[in-house]
Amino acid sequence: MSTHYEAHTFTIPEITGISQKQIDEHIKLYEGYVKHVNLIYTELMELGHDKEKNGHLMQELRRRLGFEFNGMRLHELYFGDLEGGAKLINPDSNLYQHIKVQYGDFEKFRAEFASIAARGSGWMILNWDPVGARFHMNWVTNHDEGQLATLPAIIALDFWEHAYMVDYTPGDKGKYLNAYLDALNWESVAKRFDEVKK
Ligand SMILES: [Fe+2]
Repeated sequence: MSTHYEAHTFTIPEITGISQKQIDEHIKLYEGYVKHVNLIYTELMELGHDKEKNGHLMQELRRRLGFEFNGMRLHELYFGDLEGGAKLINPDSNLYQHIKVQYGDFEKFRAEFASIAARGSGWMILNWDPVGARFHMNWVTNHDEGQLATLPAIIALDFWEHAYMVDYTPGDKGKYLNAYLDALNWESVAKRFDEVKK
Protein backbone atom coordinates (compact mmCIF):
# COMPACT_ATOMS: atom_id res chain seq x y z
CA MET A 1 0.00 0.00 0.00
CA SER A 2 1.40 3.36 -1.00
CA THR A 3 1.04 6.29 1.35
CA HIS A 4 2.60 8.66 -1.13
CA TYR A 5 0.37 11.35 -2.61
CA GLU A 6 1.16 13.29 -5.75
CA ALA A 7 0.15 16.94 -6.07
CA HIS A 8 -2.46 17.42 -8.79
CA THR A 9 -1.76 19.65 -11.74
CA PHE A 10 -4.71 21.94 -12.40
CA THR A 11 -5.60 23.42 -15.76
CA ILE A 12 -7.37 26.62 -14.81
CA PRO A 13 -8.38 29.14 -17.46
CA GLU A 14 -8.23 32.90 -16.98
CA ILE A 15 -10.67 33.96 -14.28
CA THR A 16 -12.41 37.30 -14.09
CA GLY A 17 -11.67 38.74 -10.65
CA ILE A 18 -8.98 36.27 -9.54
CA SER A 19 -5.53 36.85 -10.99
CA GLN A 20 -3.17 34.21 -12.34
CA LYS A 21 -0.62 35.31 -9.75
CA GLN A 22 -3.13 34.70 -6.97
CA ILE A 23 -3.89 31.22 -8.30
CA ASP A 24 -0.20 30.38 -8.81
CA GLU A 25 0.78 31.46 -5.29
CA HIS A 26 -2.14 29.55 -3.86
CA ILE A 27 -1.29 26.36 -5.72
CA LYS A 28 2.18 26.51 -4.16
CA LEU A 29 0.52 26.42 -0.73
CA TYR A 30 -1.60 23.45 -1.82
CA GLU A 31 1.54 21.60 -2.89
CA GLY A 32 2.91 22.20 0.61
CA TYR A 33 0.00 20.27 2.13
CA VAL A 34 0.63 17.30 -0.16
CA LYS A 35 4.30 17.37 0.78
CA HIS A 36 3.49 17.44 4.48
CA VAL A 37 0.99 14.56 4.30
CA ASN A 38 3.78 12.48 2.78
CA LEU A 39 6.29 13.74 5.34
CA ILE A 40 4.03 12.77 8.23
CA TYR A 41 3.87 9.20 6.96
CA THR A 42 7.62 9.07 6.48
CA GLU A 43 8.15 10.36 10.02
CA LEU A 44 5.60 7.93 11.46
CA MET A 45 7.39 5.06 9.80
CA GLU A 46 10.74 6.14 11.21
CA LEU A 47 9.39 6.80 14.71
CA GLY A 48 7.56 3.47 14.62
CA HIS A 49 10.85 1.66 15.04
CA ASP A 50 10.66 2.57 18.72
CA LYS A 51 6.97 2.96 19.53
CA GLU A 52 7.50 3.00 23.27
CA LYS A 53 9.89 5.92 23.16
CA ASN A 54 8.08 7.84 20.38
CA GLY A 55 4.46 7.10 21.29
CA HIS A 56 3.44 10.66 22.22
CA LEU A 57 5.19 12.14 19.24
CA MET A 58 3.39 9.72 16.95
CA GLN A 59 0.01 10.61 18.47
CA GLU A 60 0.68 14.29 17.84
CA LEU A 61 1.61 13.57 14.25
CA ARG A 62 -1.69 11.70 13.80
CA ARG A 63 -3.49 14.82 15.02
CA ARG A 64 -1.49 16.92 12.60
CA LEU A 65 -2.50 14.58 9.78
CA GLY A 66 -6.10 15.88 9.94
CA PHE A 67 -4.83 19.40 9.27
CA GLU A 68 -2.48 18.53 6.42
CA PHE A 69 -4.71 15.90 4.76
CA ASN A 70 -7.83 18.07 4.80
CA GLY A 71 -5.76 20.99 3.55
CA MET A 72 -4.71 18.82 0.63
CA ARG A 73 -8.13 17.42 -0.18
CA LEU A 74 -10.13 20.64 0.24
CA HIS A 75 -7.76 22.50 -2.07
CA GLU A 76 -8.25 19.75 -4.66
CA LEU A 77 -11.99 20.45 -4.58
CA TYR A 78 -11.41 24.19 -4.64
CA PHE A 79 -9.07 24.23 -7.65
CA GLY A 80 -10.67 21.24 -9.37
CA ASP A 81 -13.98 23.05 -9.66
CA LEU A 82 -12.29 25.88 -11.56
CA GLU A 83 -11.04 23.53 -14.27
CA GLY A 84 -12.91 23.57 -17.54
CA GLY A 85 -13.96 27.19 -17.05
CA ALA A 86 -17.16 28.75 -15.75
CA LYS A 87 -20.26 26.71 -16.49
CA LEU A 88 -23.74 27.61 -15.32
CA ILE A 89 -25.74 25.14 -13.30
CA ASN A 90 -28.06 23.00 -15.40
CA PRO A 91 -31.68 23.40 -14.19
CA ASP A 92 -32.29 19.73 -15.03
CA SER A 93 -29.47 18.55 -12.79
CA ASN A 94 -30.09 16.62 -9.61
CA LEU A 95 -28.11 19.29 -7.75
CA TYR A 96 -30.30 22.13 -9.00
CA GLN A 97 -33.47 20.26 -8.13
CA HIS A 98 -32.30 19.59 -4.57
CA ILE A 99 -31.16 23.19 -4.14
CA LYS A 100 -34.62 24.30 -5.24
CA VAL A 101 -36.32 22.04 -2.69
CA GLN A 102 -34.25 23.39 0.21
CA TYR A 103 -33.65 27.02 -0.75
CA GLY A 104 -36.51 27.91 -3.11
CA ASP A 105 -34.33 28.86 -6.04
CA PHE A 106 -30.70 29.12 -7.07
CA GLU A 107 -30.42 32.86 -6.39
CA LYS A 108 -31.67 32.42 -2.82
CA PHE A 109 -29.20 29.58 -2.34
CA ARG A 110 -26.34 31.71 -3.59
CA ALA A 111 -27.41 34.69 -1.45
CA GLU A 112 -27.48 32.48 1.65
CA PHE A 113 -24.08 31.03 0.84
CA ALA A 114 -22.69 34.55 0.39
CA SER A 115 -24.23 35.89 3.59
CA ILE A 116 -22.75 33.05 5.67
CA ALA A 117 -19.39 33.43 3.94
CA ALA A 118 -19.36 37.15 4.78
CA ARG A 119 -18.89 36.41 8.48
CA GLY A 120 -16.00 34.05 8.94
CA SER A 121 -12.65 32.78 7.83
CA GLY A 122 -11.32 29.36 6.94
CA TRP A 123 -13.31 27.08 4.65
CA MET A 124 -16.91 27.69 3.78
CA ILE A 125 -18.32 24.31 2.85
CA LEU A 126 -21.52 23.15 1.25
CA ASN A 127 -22.06 19.63 2.52
CA TRP A 128 -24.73 17.12 1.60
CA ASP A 129 -26.16 14.95 4.37
CA PRO A 130 -27.43 11.69 2.86
CA VAL A 131 -29.11 10.71 6.15
CA GLY A 132 -31.01 13.94 6.70
CA ALA A 133 -31.39 14.42 2.92
CA ARG A 134 -30.37 18.07 3.19
CA PHE A 135 -27.51 20.46 2.61
CA HIS A 136 -25.49 22.13 5.33
CA MET A 137 -23.46 25.29 4.92
CA ASN A 138 -20.77 25.21 7.55
CA TRP A 139 -17.47 26.77 8.49
CA VAL A 140 -14.32 24.76 8.90
CA THR A 141 -11.60 26.52 10.86
CA ASN A 142 -8.11 25.81 9.63
CA HIS A 143 -8.84 22.65 7.63
CA ASP A 144 -10.04 20.35 10.33
CA GLU A 145 -12.13 21.96 13.05
CA GLY A 146 -15.82 21.99 12.28
CA GLN A 147 -15.91 19.22 9.71
CA LEU A 148 -19.24 17.44 9.73
CA ALA A 149 -18.43 13.75 10.11
CA THR A 150 -19.06 11.55 7.07
CA LEU A 151 -20.70 14.31 5.02
CA PRO A 152 -19.35 14.74 1.51
CA ALA A 153 -18.33 18.28 0.59
CA ILE A 154 -20.06 19.55 -2.54
CA ILE A 155 -18.41 22.99 -2.67
CA ALA A 156 -15.29 24.04 -0.77
CA LEU A 157 -14.71 27.78 -0.81
CA ASP A 158 -11.32 28.80 0.51
CA PHE A 159 -11.86 31.93 2.57
CA TRP A 160 -8.47 32.00 4.21
CA GLU A 161 -6.87 35.36 3.56
CA HIS A 162 -4.15 33.73 1.46
CA ALA A 163 -6.86 32.81 -1.07
CA TYR A 164 -7.56 36.45 -1.99
CA MET A 165 -4.88 38.75 -0.50
CA VAL A 166 -2.90 39.06 -3.75
CA ASP A 167 -6.01 40.61 -5.33
CA TYR A 168 -8.17 42.01 -2.53
CA THR A 169 -8.06 43.56 0.92
CA PRO A 170 -10.13 41.80 3.62
CA GLY A 171 -12.80 44.49 3.27
CA ASP A 172 -13.27 43.51 -0.35
CA LYS A 173 -13.40 39.76 0.17
CA GLY A 174 -17.03 39.74 -1.02
CA LYS A 175 -15.70 40.51 -4.52
CA TYR A 176 -13.45 37.46 -4.31
CA LEU A 177 -16.39 35.31 -3.21
CA ASN A 178 -18.47 36.42 -6.19
CA ALA A 179 -15.55 35.93 -8.56
CA TYR A 180 -15.11 32.35 -7.32
CA LEU A 181 -18.81 31.49 -7.54
CA ASP A 182 -18.99 33.02 -11.03
CA ALA A 183 -15.93 31.03 -12.12
CA LEU A 184 -17.19 27.70 -10.82
CA ASN A 185 -17.71 24.85 -13.21
CA TRP A 186 -21.17 23.91 -11.97
CA GLU A 187 -21.17 20.87 -14.26
CA SER A 188 -18.31 19.48 -12.23
CA VAL A 189 -20.07 20.35 -8.95
CA ALA A 190 -23.33 18.74 -10.16
CA LYS A 191 -21.44 15.61 -11.19
CA ARG A 192 -19.95 15.31 -7.71
CA PHE A 193 -23.42 15.65 -6.24
CA ASP A 194 -24.69 12.85 -8.52
CA GLU A 195 -21.90 10.61 -7.27
CA VAL A 196 -22.69 11.16 -3.60
CA LYS A 197 -26.42 10.72 -4.22
CA LYS A 198 -25.95 7.22 -5.68
FE1 LIG B 1 -5.93 27.84 0.51
